[in-house]
Amino acid sequence: MNDGERIWESGSVEETRRIAGEIAQDAQPGDVYALTGELGAGKTAFAGGFAAGLHVPYPEDVVSPTYTILQIHEGGRLPLYHFDVYRLTDPEEADAIGIDEYLFGDGVCLIEWASRIRELLPPRTREVIFERRPERGEDCRRITLRQGGPA
Ligand SMILES: Nc1ncnc2c1ncn2[C@@H]1O[C@H](COP(=O)(O)OP(=O)(O)OP(=O)(O)O)[C@@H](O)[C@H]1O
Ligand SMILES: [Mg+2]
Repeated sequence: MNDGERIWESGSVEETRRIAGEIAQDAQPGDVYALTGELGAGKTAFAGGFAAGLHVPYPEDVVSPTYTILQIHEGGRLPLYHFDVYRLTDPEEADAIGIDEYLFGDGVCLIEWASRIRELLPPRTREVIFERRPERGEDCRRITLRQGGPA
């Protein structure tokens, strides 16, 4: 049941970035990571660490885009396509911007709020789930990496 599932406990932003950087070491062209978890759970922090792990030139530029759905970061080991689809109400909007070009491209997709577009995600999608653990402290997050898109 838990085939290939990996779980970390992060106690800080830095630790979350480090975990992301470690995962980025294994990234291959066409990988798709659905980042799920509530507001402020650490999805963008993870994306920044992932970018650093890919040796993207300015990983500090990986921020939550306010009005753009996609930010492209090139110049690293692989192109990084960082999506935040929080504002999408209909997966057709993602289709309209040509998301398939990236999902089936030669870079790595990180998609915040990916459950909004779950029907567009390829079967090879992996989910990274961010959960707060208030009983373990304000900065504690459980990070679970699993095969499959968000439910
Ligand atoms: N262990 C941790 N890992 C990641 N972020 C943490 C951690 N502990 C505290 N934080 C704080 O939580 C916040 C995470 O913000 P971030 O923008 O990464 O969340 P997000 O999941 O992308 O939110 P949104 O859904 O709004 O895009 C930051 O303010 C960060 O400092
Ligand atoms: Mg974010």
